[in-house]
Amino acid sequence: MTPLLRQVLSQIDGPDPRVNEVVAALVSHLHAFVEETRPTPEEWLAGLAFLVETGKMCTPDRDEFILLSDMLGLTSAVDDVNNAGPANMTPSSVEGPFHSPAPERKLGDWISTGPERERGVPTVVHGRVLDCDGTPLAGAVVDLWQANDTGLYDTQDDSQDTGNLRGLFTTDADGLYWFRTIRPSSYPVPTDGTGGTLLRAIGRHPMRPAHLHYRVTAGGHRPLITHVFLAGDPYLESDAAYAVKEELVREPRPGAGEWGMDGPYEEIEFDVRLVPLGWTEERANPA
Ligand code: BEZ
Ligand code: FE
Repeated sequence: MTPLLRQVLSQIDGPDPRVNEVVAALVSHLHAFVEETRPTPEEWLAGLAFLVETGKMCTPDRDEFILLSDMLGLTSAVDDVNNAGPANMTPSSVEGPFHSPAPERKLGDWISTGPERERGVPTVVHGRVLDCDGTPLAGAVVDLWQANDTGLYDTQDDSQDTGNLRGLFTTDADGLYWFRTIRPSSYPVPTDGTGGTLLRAIGRHPMRPAHLHYRVTAGGHRPLITHVFLAGDPYLESDAAYAVKEELVREPRPGAGEWGMDGPYEEIEFDVRLVPLGWTEERANPA
């Protein structure tokens, strides 16, 4: 440890021990970063100016810092350290910036209510919400959101009605949820801010593989925020937000006619297994 770092650490002594711990670790890593990369004063100031620009992009509807965190894999890393559970649970995956209140809908309703419905591949999404032991969870609430075929959420696009491609569903007595939509498309994350500057600088594309977002809640269980991704998407291995997990990828199948659809359609099946409240590694595997 350098004398300078020792001196900085020795003066961290606030009233909250957790704040002291976090600031000390952050400062230690940043000093190690400076030792390793040896930035010139101009480079350091350029880095600080980048953060100032990031702050200027933020509005009540847009948080460019969250986007940077997503694009560096940091949001996924924080998600992972906070969502351990049994091996058969549905893994969580980042929320992203586009959740907003969804209209309540009945099982089987369309969530696509705009012109994208004529352009897209009709798709039935169905599955059950279960406990990790397989018990169906009746009355679970499944909150869904999806971008349209041009890659925009209703909140980003004045031409879409509020609530388009969103829905709040309640599972039936068997834990079943189902709804109709269009096949999700891959789309780029916003690149007109410092998030885009970063992606261009490090030679990454801005694409997210086709997905649907889920937020699932049920009494006595840990709420789950996750995605379902479509098998075969070219961006599964290089998601701009590093949110893909193997267990969340599903193959759309040609519809077999059970869901009352007119004409050809695809179906995606995605069961969600929630972790009971109070689950801990120690309780699950007592020594
Ligand atoms: C999204 O899928 O909505 C998203 C997630 C992370 C960053 C940007 C967008
Ligand atoms: Fe998304």
